[in-house]
Amino acid sequence: MYKRLLWSALLVFAMVSVASGTAQAPEKLIFATGFGEVAFDHGAHQQRLVCTTCHHTGESVACATCHGEELDIPRITDSMHMQCKGCHKESGGPTNCRDCHKK
Ligand code: HEC
Ligand code: HEC
Ligand code: HEC
Ligand code: HEC
Repeated sequence: MYKRLLWSALLVFAMVSVASGTAQAPEKLIFATGFGEVAFDHGAHQQRLVCTTCHHTGESVACATCHGEELDIPRITDSMHMQCKGCHKESGGPTNCRDCHKK
């Protein structure tokens, strides 16, 4: 419940930030999925990596903005899995389903 509230608050914050043209990099993100929530420590990742490692087009907006169903690029879940797990395999981050997806 508290995570859901946090997620809503972050969404509202992101929308307000984008609307005012001053998008702030989030500290924590929770992705609610049917397979369990994924907590993503954006702040910790961002401290070690340049933004364009993940925001590959240089635009720090939601991945689903582009990775929708229509386009000829990976859909949202695949794009996240490829990016998150791809790097973790190379750099020693978590790769097991339940390392990321908590029930
Ligand atoms: C390890 C990968 C990674 C790095 C590095 C990273 N980000 Fe992100 N960032 C993400 C992901 C994943 C999201 C969530 C996108 C989504 O909800 O689809 C996100 C979300 C955001 C958002 C909110 C976008 C929105 O409206 O949903 C902003 C702003 C942002 N990042 C800025 C930054 C900035 C600035 C940096 C560099 C200082 C940075 N990020 C570095 C992965 C990363
Ligand atoms: C502004 C549009 C846009 C945004 C935002 C965006 N992508 Fe992409 N992404 C693309 C396009 C276009 C391609 C295909 C590029 C190519 O084939 O060279 C792509 C390709 C990819 C690929 C395939 C492998 C690769 O790196 O080329 C992955 C994985 C990926 N994106 C993950 C993400 C993630 C995760 C996010 C959010 C943090 C994100 N993308 C945000 C447009 C976007
Ligand atoms: C470019 C590399 C890279 C990308 C992309 C990346 N990570 Fe990581 N991540 C790491 C590394 C390295 C660690 C191990 C850090 C440590 O052990 O201190 C890590 C650790 C983690 C951890 C465990 C520690 C913690 O912060 O709770 C989680 C969960 C995690 N990543 C989630 C994600 C998710 C979700 C994504 C995609 C949205 C993602 N990561 C994308 C490099 C990356
Ligand atoms: C490094 C972290 C990480 C690992 C490991 C991981 N996932 Fe994910 N998974 C994510 C993220 C991030 C999303 C995207 C959430 C979103 O679309 O908002 C996701 C999305 C999903 C979804 C989509 C759920 C929905 O409601 O649309 C499923 C299903 C899923 N993962 C299953 C798995 C399975 C099965 C494994 C193991 C083989 C796995 N994941 C491993 C981070 C991870």
